[in-house]
Amino acid sequence: MKTQWIDELGQRVPLSRQPQDLQTYGRDWTRVYVPRPSAVVFPRHAEEVCEILQFCSQHGIAVVPSGGRTGLSAGAVAAEGELVLSLERLRDLGEVDPFGLTLTTGAGVTNHEVHVHCEHLGLTWPVDLASKGSCQVGGNLATNAGGIRVLRYGHARHWVTGLQVALMDGTLLNLGNAVQKDNVGPDLRQLMIGSEGILGIITRATLRLALLPTDRQVLFLAVDGMEAGLELLRHARIQGRFQLQAFEYMGRNCLEAVIKAQGVPSPFGGSGELPPAAVLIEVEGRLDGELDRWLEQVMAQKLVQDGLVAKSSADINRLWAYRDNITESLGRLGLMHKNDISVEVGRLAEFVHTLEKEVAPTFPGELYLFGHLGDGNLHINVMKPSATDPEEFWDGCHVADMQLYELLHKLGGSVSAEHGIGLLKKSALGFSRGPAEVATMRAVKKALDPEGLLNPGKVFDL
Ligand code: FAD
Ligand code: LAC
Ligand code: ZN
Repeated sequence: MKTQWIDELGQRVPLSRQPQDLQTYGRDWTRVYVPRPSAVVFPRHAEEVCEILQFCSQHGIAVVPSGGRTGLSAGAVAAEGELVLSLERLRDLGEVDPFGLTLTTGAGVTNHEVHVHCEHLGLTWPVDLASKGSCQVGGNLATNAGGIRVLRYGHARHWVTGLQVALMDGTLLNLGNAVQKDNVGPDLRQLMIGSEGILGIITRATLRLALLPTDRQVLFLAVDGMEAGLELLRHARIQGRFQLQAFEYMGRNCLEAVIKAQGVPSPFGGSGELPPAAVLIEVEGRLDGELDRWLEQVMAQKLVQDGLVAKSSADINRLWAYRDNITESLGRLGLMHKNDISVEVGRLAEFVHTLEKEVAPTFPGELYLFGHLGDGNLHINVMKPSATDPEEFWDGCHVADMQLYELLHKLGGSVSAEHGIGLLKKSALGFSRGPAEVATMRAVKKALDPEGLLNPGKVFDL
């Protein structure tokens, strides 16, 4: 490979070819592809991002935008000699605007840093996910991240007023600012959000903030399985006179994985058998006994087998840790094939019934189900049996996936609720998006990046 351009670029901007950096920055959280970038650049400001993109356009060099590398669809993977462009040095963090409740931040600031920055004012950016310590604002917006509070606040795209984006030819677009109401033509800012780094590189964002919830009540409830969890959700929505912040589900084997990998005791205490599943519910506000009354009702109806109510903020954190640590714990136990699906919440029982009866037996490993039940969003993880060869495992999962996607297509569900398509889910795209829609996406891509140099091969092939 000709590498003269790397030396030339390295004289203009911070660049690394260290093997360790190529490994680290050449991939995200997935472990399916071998990272093989040619170099990594670390621009220090938006103008440098533009300079790099212009240089790459002129030399025909493919670029992969890289945020906190916690993505679960291989969107930030560079396996074909691309140049990785890390956003981690774009770290300007402004002051909170106390009138409009907005905050302008560089793309490389982490989700958690934004939370900490606003906390003392009783405010938050309500995009909250277990990867918050590493994922970046730019990555959250490029993936339109969901997380544990979508039920209450919606996805990341609802919490942005302005975006600065660099295009592949080096143009810098300022799309909106801190102005809240701004209906001037098609919204390019929303086009960029969720575009997985294939249309432009986000360099800065102005975020909308929400009041930090006070009087958080957290329940950790043992249930008999998914159907019982859904019934509980129906009760909470119709009979519970309270505002749900989160309604999360985990199957027994997910809970077991957390207990084993984190070395923590069973949340329900003792050494008895764990329940078939557990649901974590967070509710906000002063409730005057309303939550207790609701809990008594659902226990009387035997929808809940056992339950814990957090009594302190330490308790809240301890109970949330069982949920937050699932992905990390599963990753420690073995190689996982992941799906991230959603259907209308009202059809989830039907989906799970067919999944368990018809689709699950075709996967070449045990299924681990957890997710954002309140959003109709399940994470379906399949563990590779230790004796199975990885290639054989990925191939077997791919075949079973097609049945899963057929089922989702039939139910009008989504093949990617939160994590995006990236490299990993390209074969799934057509099950949730029709040919005309994909053709329109391609036309947009070609208009902004005619040579297909920005995050090539991600989402679809040109
Ligand atoms: P990366 O992984 O670095 O990149 C993701 C994609 O965005 C890639 O396509 C990349 O090219 C592109 N990109 C990154 N930065 C930019 C930029 N500045 N401009 C343009 N493109 C860019 N996701 C959820 O939605 N909900 C969850 O609840 C959730 N929980 C998770 C829990 C764990 C433990 C882990 C490991 C992951 C979880 N994720 C979740 C997935 C992941 O954290 C999110 O997708 C996150 O938004 C990715 O951000 P990142 O900065 O790590 O992006
Ligand atoms: C979560 C990730 C996997 O919900 O989206 O933990
Ligand atoms: Zn999730």
